[in-house]
Formats: sequence, structure tokens, C-alpha cells
Amino acid sequence: MAIELKDNRFHLYNDEMSYIIEISRQKDLLNVYYGARVDAEEIETKRDRPGAFCSCADDNDPDYSLSVMGQEYPSAGACDFRSPAYEITNAKGMHTPELKYRSHEIINGKPKINGLPAVYTESENEAQTLIITAADEFYGLEVKLFYTVFEKLNVICRHAEMRNCGKSDMMLNNAQSVSLDFPAGEYEYIHLEGAWAREKHIDRNSVHKGIQGFESRRGASGHTENPFMMFFDKGSNEDYGNVYGISLVYSGNHRFIIEQEAAETVRVQAGINPFGFSFKLSEGEVFTTPEAVLVYSDTGFAKMSNTFHKLYRTRLCRGVWRDKTRPILINHWEATYFDFTADKLLDIAKSAAKIGVELFVLDDGWFGHRNDDFSSLGDWYVNEEKLGCTIAELAEKINQQGLKFGLWFEPEMISPDSDLYKKHPDWAITVPGAKPHLGRHQLILDLTREDVREYIIGFLTDILSSANIEYVKWDMNRNMTDVYSENLSPERQGEFYHRYILGLYEILETVTSRFPNVLFEGCSGGGGRNDPGMLYYMPQNWASDDTDATERLYIQYGGSMVYPASTVGAHVSAVPNHQVGRISSLKTRGTVAMNGAFGYELDLSILSEEELNEMKEQVKFYKENRELVMTGEYYRLLNPFTSRHSAWMYVSEDKKEALVYYVVKTARPSNEVVHLKLKGLNPVAKYNVGGKIMSGRTLMNHGIIIDDTEHDGNCRIIKLYNI
Ligand code: GLA
Repeated sequence: MAIELKDNRFHLYNDEMSYIIEISRQKDLLNVYYGARVDAEEIETKRDRPGAFCSCADDNDPDYSLSVMGQEYPSAGACDFRSPAYEITNAKGMHTPELKYRSHEIINGKPKINGLPAVYTESENEAQTLIITAADEFYGLEVKLFYTVFEKLNVICRHAEMRNCGKSDMMLNNAQSVSLDFPAGEYEYIHLEGAWAREKHIDRNSVHKGIQGFESRRGASGHTENPFMMFFDKGSNEDYGNVYGISLVYSGNHRFIIEQEAAETVRVQAGINPFGFSFKLSEGEVFTTPEAVLVYSDTGFAKMSNTFHKLYRTRLCRGVWRDKTRPILINHWEATYFDFTADKLLDIAKSAAKIGVELFVLDDGWFGHRNDDFSSLGDWYVNEEKLGCTIAELAEKINQQGLKFGLWFEPEMISPDSDLYKKHPDWAITVPGAKPHLGRHQLILDLTREDVREYIIGFLTDILSSANIEYVKWDMNRNMTDVYSENLSPERQGEFYHRYILGLYEILETVTSRFPNVLFEGCSGGGGRNDPGMLYYMPQNWASDDTDATERLYIQYGGSMVYPASTVGAHVSAVPNHQVGRISSLKTRGTVAMNGAFGYELDLSILSEEELNEMKEQVKFYKENRELVMTGEYYRLLNPFTSRHSAWMYVSEDKKEALVYYVVKTARPSNEVVHLKLKGLNPVAKYNVGGKIMSGRTLMNHGIIIDDTEHDGNCRIIKLYNI
């Protein structure tokens, strides 16, 4: 049993963690405790003394003020002046509902969330779910709060459903997925900030009084802020401290806030961004929030990351590719950009086959008259003039080289210079009568429209059935402006951002289940939509358009906080690097790119025999080790943001094998000697480290000595075998 109700307290627990909710005498749902395992009956309800100017929710108990108590799903406008978890306005303009406990249900397993991606269970005894129903009778609002607790992982999944049980319409102006209240204390948080080609950088801050946080208003989860936050005790590190990871399974506008109030308590919330959001609920209508996944670690960041990795790799990603090692690919984008012929592509494919690559990806530029990024999005028919053959014929020629064939699409987009736009200008997202704002010379299709969704599903179905296409790169290369849809009535325009994402999810569900054997990789100008929502449909994501090895150290380090290596698309590209102009050795480029779904993205047909031979060795090494990279426990050893080098490692679940990566970011003379202390090994097991036998405890406590001046290429990979 993972969920118990005793003395009006729900105790959600497993061996290592507890989450306690109290139903107060006044029927409020109080957020009592979240952290390492405790005995629920011994915990006192947090009750800071209300000061002057605190309103009281119980005339018989003047100390009972929600303004200083922890709450599960705080309402607005009653006694709590902190950020509410939801806001509604009824037909009369009233907006001060109060939720009171009504009933609850405990079920085994985890119910699906209709129309939204979510973590799942494969058997009913992996988890239990508590569903609490709370309501405001006067407003006719009913809220169901869902909590799923996993038995073997320190995971709690939360989301909420809001139902209009009254007769007249109400407007939902805010609906967060999670709200947590932490006791007074000193806290810090990390979020993954960035920009195009510089995604998922670590930003660490101290929590201070007032509201702080981050958000996306881009209509996508975005390059600038990943929908993820780590909230932790001040001073926590990889191995120490209470850490709470919050990850939102959503690909649209999100918001994460931390609010520290007068009583020093801290409220943390995550959910859909209330910016531009309102949802009309007519009688009987229900709104469902996306899912927030909470991971608790009692021993720092590494344990939190490993919990996310395992959960997302095995209980968020789906389909036949979930547990399969991923093919090594060659993508011609940085080799040719738009300027290619079928012969050129075949030359690249031939060289790729020679070094053992397994999949060829035809990127942008194969359709309509697209020879630059000014046209043709929406015209998904092959440019035979350019390719000299059909997609089916090209796929066959690639297959004859012994490679699988994959194809790039940007299905959500429309170029003003396209046949599709001539036929359906109204399908693009624009404000009628106003000049639309182009992004990369293109507009976005209105996915709130059923006819648009049908069109996208239709052309993808036709093309994927017409040739032996075994991989799809699903790109999305601009963010949303001019948000308006003629498909929605005026009072429903605030639903647009969310309905777009619901439309996208509907398309993805249909297409990925229609083509279950195709490997889908998500992309949005690199990592512009690198979020758990997309991973539910596509088990890998092109992490960044920046392929420079050093820049990737930061991107992959930040991303590793939450996303497993199996989901991270990473390629070796040409030097000087196209994004930053840096020249890194092939060894360094390979060492960094082999930490994910590995591939090459350069013109292999013009490389020297020597370079191809080195790549052949990389491919061989990756094939021998990719299972460990995909499924191993992951430990960050040296932080590239704070030191001149970076190191990390994978340990197999049985701790018999490990792979250690070490890369120098900035070479310099008169170096220190590095004691690279390993992690996660069996302390008493003996490991063979390049011929030397060492115990796990020596490797973890004393470490491996690395003298930078000795080695070549400024990086190394060390394989450890248990003997
Ligand atoms: C985006 C992707 C790239 C490439 C181009 C093609 O920028 O991130 O990998 O596919 O589009 O236009």
C-alpha cells in the first residue's frame, strides 16, 4: 500500500518518501509534509501564527487562517493572499471560490489522462493513485486532484481536473498542475535557461522574498526555459541535500514560480502559463491540467536525475523504440544545407555505410521548390527536379547501401510562398486584417482546426505509406505570434495556446500509432521543444542546433538533470564548427556526441581515409557501449559551468560495467593533477581499469589520476569492467 487515510490524513509513501495531506476540521486540504519518509501520525500540521491583517476562515478558531497554512490547491480571493493554484470567474463576475473536501478514491495503478501525454504504469502494483474531490457548492465548481505515488521510485505525479457543475458558464483563468508549500527555510533552485543553440544551461539561484521563477510565452516550451525546476535545501549538491525536481509534461506555454512570503514559508507552483490563458467552462465541461512529475531525492541531484531518467525512459517514452538501442545516423544538413542532389546524398550515404552508420536522414529541402528557407512548407510533395527520383526510389537506393532511410518534416508550418497558402490562407495563424509577423519567413498552421489536423495526418500517412521510411525528424522552427483563430468564438480566444497543443498531441497520437515501427525524433530548431510532452510520442529529441563539442558539454550537462541520454540526439559535425567556428579534434567531437542517440552531420564523402577510419572506430565503440549509455545510471563528475573540464559516467544497473568520460574544455599549462572520483560503483567489487585492478571504493574515494599534459586530444573515455 502506498496511500493510507488515518485520522483525516492521507499519507502517500514508499520506503524512502512521504507526502502528507490533511483534511482540516473546516474541510480544507492542507499541505502538511513532503520529503524523506516519516511517521505520519507524529507530524504536526504546519500552522504559523497569523498576524494582524490575516483573515480567519473559522469564527470559532481565530488562529485558523489559510494565509499562513500550507495548502494543496489554494484558492484566490478568500483568506490566502499568496499565489492561487487556480482562478475562476462566474457569470456574475464573482471570483472568490473556496474548495472544501468532498470525497476521495484510492485506486491501484495510474489512470490515463485524456488527450494529454503522461507517465504511465505497466502493471497495477507499480503505483497507487489518490483522487481527492473538492468543491465550492456556491460556485458549482468541482475540482479533482490526482496524486500517483510509485512504489519503487520516489515519484509523485500530480494533475487537476476542474468541472463546472453549475448551470451558467464560468471562466477558468488559471489552472496550475501543482502547488506545494514548504516550511520556512533556506532554499535554492536551478532552472535550465538558454536560447537557440544554447539550450538547457544551468542557472542556480537563492530563493528570496517575493515571487521569482520563469516561464514561456512562446506557444511552445521553448529554447529559453525548459519546463523543469529543481528546488532544494541551500548548499545541496550532486550527493547531498533534499532535492525536489518538478517537470511539466507539457509542450506549450508554462510557468514555474517560487514565492516566499512574510512567514518565510515557500510556495512552489508549476503549470500552464496564465498569460493569454482563459478557458470557458459551460455546464458539465471539464478542464484537465497537464501532469507535473515530482521527484524527491534525499541525497542530492544525482539521485533525482537517475529517478527522472529511469521514469522517463521506461514509463514516459513508449512504443517499440522505447527499449531498443537507437541506430547511428548520418544527417546531411550541415554537409549540404539546401544545396544537394540525389548523387551527393548517395555519396554521403556510401561513405556512411563504410564506417558502419545505420540510418540516413534526408533533412530539409526535398519538397516543393524549397532551395532556401523562404518557401514550400506545406507542399509536401517531392521535388523530383532536384532529386531526380521519388522518395520511394531514393529510400530504396539508400536501403541498397545497407542503411535505413529517414525523412525530415516540419508539419505544423506553412510558407506564404506555397501552394498550400494559395489554397488555404485562412489555415495560417494570423489576426485577420493585420499584417502577420513572419518567423524564419514562415507562418504556423492553426492546429485548433479539425480540417488542418486532418490535412497534416493525411499527408504524413500518404508519404510514410509510400516508401520505406523508418525514421522521421519532426521539426518546428518558429514561435507563435499573432495568436487568434477564426475557429474560436471571441470568449474562447484565450483557449488558443492550449488548444493548439491539444491539436498537436492528437496528431502525434494518431500518426505515431499508425506507424508504430517508425522512430520519431522531435526537434524545434534544436531544443526548442525538448520537453516530456514530446517524449511521450517521440523517444528522442535533437538536443540543440549547436554541434560544437565544447558547447555541447554545457547543453548535455544541463539536460542530464532531467532527460536520459537515450532521448538526446547528438552528432559529430565538421570543423571549424558552423555555429561557433571552433576547431575540436575528431576524438573530442566523438567523445561528446557518443552520449546520446549518436550520429554524424557532415560531408563524409570528402573526408580522408584516416578520418573515416577514426570514425569507424567511434562507430564500433558506440555500438559496443550504446546499451550502457542508454540504460546506465548517470553520474556527473566535473561541472563544465564551474571548472575547466567536464566529466561524467554511466554505471550498469548490476554495477559490473562503467564508462567514464573526461573532456578538457580549456587547456592550459602547469595544470593541477586531477583526482577524478568516480561514483555509483560497488565499493567492494574489483574493476579492471585499462589493465589496472582497482576496487570500487578506491575509485570512488581516491579516484583516477588524470594528468592532462599526458594525453592526446584533450579527452578520454575509460571503460571499467568488474572482474
Ligand atoms: C532546424 C533543425 C535543423 C535542420 C533545419 C532544417 O533548424 O534544428 O537540424 O533540420 O531546421 O531547416
